[in-house]
Amino acid sequence: MRGIARIIVHFLVLFQILCCVYFATNMIRRKPGFRISDSSGTSTKRNETLGEYIRYESKKYGSDFCVAYNVTKATGNFRDDGLEPISLVLHATSHFMREIEGQCSSRNWNGPISISLFVDRTSSEAVDYLHEVHRCSAKVNQKLSVHVVYRMSPFQKFCDPILIKRSNRKCTSFNSTIRSRERSRVIPPFQIYPINVMRNVARKGALSYIHMTADVEMMFSDGFALKMKPLANKYINGKDKKLLVIRRFEVDNKAHVPADNKELFLMIKAFRAFEFHHKYFPAGHTIESLWQWFRMSKNQTEAYAWKIDYKSSSWEAQLILHRKDPYNPEYIPTRIRDQQSLVYELCRANYTFHLASHVFNVHRGVKTKETNLSSAVLTHQKRLRTRSYKRFMHYINTTYPDTFDQCGKFVM
Ligand SMILES: *[C@@H]1O[C@H](CO)[C@@H](O)[C@H](O)[C@H]1NC(C)=O
Ligand SMILES: *[C@@H]1O[C@H](CO)[C@@H](O)[C@H](O)[C@H]1NC(C)=O
Ligand SMILES: *[C@@H]1O[C@H](CO)[C@@H](O)[C@H](O)[C@H]1NC(C)=O
Ligand SMILES: *[C@@H]1O[C@H](CO)[C@@H](O)[C@H](O)[C@H]1NC(C)=O
Ligand SMILES: *[C@@H]1O[C@H](CO)[C@@H](O)[C@H](O)[C@H]1NC(C)=O
Ligand SMILES: *[C@@H]1O[C@H](CO)[C@@H](O)[C@H](O)[C@H]1NC(C)=O
Ligand SMILES: *[C@@H]1O[C@H](CO)[C@@H](O)[C@H](O)[C@H]1NC(C)=O
Repeated sequence: MRGIARIIVHFLVLFQILCCVYFATNMIRRKPGFRISDSSGTSTKRNETLGEYIRYESKKYGSDFCVAYNVTKATGNFRDDGLEPISLVLHATSHFMREIEGQCSSRNWNGPISISLFVDRTSSEAVDYLHEVHRCSAKVNQKLSVHVVYRMSPFQKFCDPILIKRSNRKCTSFNSTIRSRERSRVIPPFQIYPINVMRNVARKGALSYIHMTADVEMMFSDGFALKMKPLANKYINGKDKKLLVIRRFEVDNKAHVPADNKELFLMIKAFRAFEFHHKYFPAGHTIESLWQWFRMSKNQTEAYAWKIDYKSSSWEAQLILHRKDPYNPEYIPTRIRDQQSLVYELCRANYTFHLASHVFNVHRGVKTKETNLSSAVLTHQKRLRTRSYKRFMHYINTTYPDTFDQCGKFVM
């Protein structure tokens, strides 16, 4: 053991020396370049090495991906009241650039937002775009941290840095018309979306330890982040193994989004709002006792929560959890119990679920069936089902041997 330690120390020292030599020679090499460009008054190589691009290192993630964290970084602190803010944790492709801006400009999310963005060759311009929006929009600048994820090519061994063209454009000319035009130019990726990698990267890059995980299109009820802040600080403390469950609903494409539980109640009664995926996948989303929830929310002025049972392995609960809590298993195929597997693991790890009153989020547009693209993804990913199921169950049964009875069987 001691021999190995000594070798490692030697290596570190050698490495440091090499680094010093490298930087020293680089500085010597660069200096004359500056002088030439300064004296001649023209810009020669200077902007190529320094000014023209902003460089973000990316690191290998798992065996297939490269990740650059903090390509934009939220500048807001959101801790003036002494409480830990809730980070809204989202994942997206370039297809959702407008929704990302929408989440940042919404008054309902007054807190940090951490987004993982999946790009490929055709869609990587989305990174430049979001970088520019972050520079030019005060709200986006305060809230948005973007982490860029891309898939490595076959035979690629190292992750390359992400280079963003430095922009000198005046922000006043980056108005909504121009933004909309630039967004529409970007062609979204057409690949298997590594959904659980994306969820995990967004959590790992979040600037606070309380995480609200959601889909990028979900719209939050009035003042969500601030109304939930005291409750989340009480429940999500990294010790008690408590989770907060958030109800979700859907409304027609054109309907307006209900602001609070009272308005939602009226819309539900009039069949203008529904529980999320009530037509398409009710087992995954319905939480019983909706009317009881309305009564409990009417009953108090501030949001509170009460314990509910784990439902079943099809339950796709929308959760607020802690940075230290388990992450989504990344080998679970996309669209096959990708979120439910985490919820099941949390149950097996003896976490308790607590339903929050008052607040909720809403999806615009009622989903009734699969799109052709999503069924193609499912067809491809089904081949991985058996193998990933075995791996997951082995991990669960060996890690949490005593909780099978309280959670039941995981069906995939
Ligand atoms: C340096 O910048 C100038 C103007 O910004 C540009 O015309 C020139 O091509 C750049 N040089 C290099 C080597 O990129
Ligand atoms: C992102 O930036 C924050 C704030 O500077 C820092 O604390 C965090 O470590 C960074 N995340 C990563 C993964 O580098
Ligand atoms: C946006 O900016 C462009 C170019 O600066 C300008 O032509 C256009 O009129 C502006 N549009 C709006 C709505 O301000
Ligand atoms: C009102 O709220 C309290 C929690 O403070 C709860 O215990 C009680 O059951 C609620 N009443 C009704 C009718 O829901
Ligand atoms: C699970 O938590 C409960 C308390 O909530 C405790 O009584 C029980 O022993 C725990 N079970 C396991 C297997 O850790
Ligand atoms: C989906 O595929 C079916 C054939 O399998 C086709 O009839 C239908 O038009 C397709 N839908 C869209 C939106 O392309
Ligand atoms: C996991 O444990 C449960 C109950 O102990 C058992 O029924 C199940 O077959 C086990 N699964 C695997 C893959 O070992």
